[in-house]
Amino acid sequence: MKISLGSDNHSGVDPKILEAITLANVGYTHSYGDDDYTRRAIDKFKEVFGHDIDVYFVLTGTGANVLSLQNFLKPYEAVICAQSAHINVDECGAPEHFTGSKLISVETKQGKLSPELLEKAIFGVGDEHHVQPRIISLSQVTELGSVYTPAEIKAIVDFAHSRGLYVHLDGARLANAVVALGCSFADLTTHTGIDILSFGATKNGAMLAESIVCFRPDLSSGMKFLRKMGMQLYSKMRYSSVQWLAYLSDNLWYENAKNANDMAKYLYSKLAEIPEVKLTQPLGANALFALLPKEIIEPLREEYYFYTWDEFTGEIRLMCSFDTRKEDIDKFLGFLQKLIDSFKSH
Ligand SMILES: Cc1ncc(COP(=O)(O)O)c(C=O)c1O
Repeated sequence: MKISLGSDNHSGVDPKILEAITLANVGYTHSYGDDDYTRRAIDKFKEVFGHDIDVYFVLTGTGANVLSLQNFLKPYEAVICAQSAHINVDECGAPEHFTGSKLISVETKQGKLSPELLEKAIFGVGDEHHVQPRIISLSQVTELGSVYTPAEIKAIVDFAHSRGLYVHLDGARLANAVVALGCSFADLTTHTGIDILSFGATKNGAMLAESIVCFRPDLSSGMKFLRKMGMQLYSKMRYSSVQWLAYLSDNLWYENAKNANDMAKYLYSKLAEIPEVKLTQPLGANALFALLPKEIIEPLREEYYFYTWDEFTGEIRLMCSFDTRKEDIDKFLGFLQKLIDSFKSH
């Protein structure tokens, strides 16, 4: 079996999640979220994020992002995001298509926005010739593997709110950030004052378990309509809700993200010892980026899945997952060293 260091999306589903699904697979329940599993899952979210939230379960991270943005936007209003943001480069234009709004993308270092960078992206406010910035979207973990500290998020939120803008957090890998920072989910969300969160579990051991957490229920009364209109209202919702129940119980989210981060840390430290490998981004959570001698990339790819992140530089991304094993990393490193040695001897 070919091992993947391509994405945490390449992993299967945690057996504990599958077991939870199986246990819920008895009898009849109402559909579309009118069931006890969903009510209990929402209660769990309230334990994690506080009581003043609304929660909507959806099926894909792209769906969570689009609906979160749509909730705050008129078509002449715009989203500011990092150039590398998933909404900007990896969602096939869905945010623009479904919101009708423009994305204003900002060049960043390591995928992170800051008040200073945002300041330069806001102009033409009140001028009918310009789109009107309305919401800032951050990714946590970022697409370049870095993490925002709670203080960095709070600084952006304070800046945004002082300008009448909202803040959306794309938390497809929020658990990995929480583990990397040693903080809580609330420290990165509720306590920073963000307005809306795409919270994903799929990449960390679940399947079809994504969600939207609205921290401004006064401003999200239309979300249930947007979700249905946006084709993200799942009829047999218990199978999604029950995954959240398992994920947020007994520290499953923590154990899974910790394994992914620990394995990435181990891989990073070993790659740092190989002179022919150049690590290109600091390690934040479970993804790392590197330049390898060009000649070994294809032979390496024959044995292991991974992505070329930047076609121009040849930079690759390696990502660890909840089920990445140390022995697989060791085998990968052994094979990599063999390829480097044979490349050097030619
Ligand atoms: C940062 C980030 N946000 C959102 C998503 C969207 O997830 P989906 O593929 O479920 O739409 C991904 C998926 O890889 C992601 O990496």
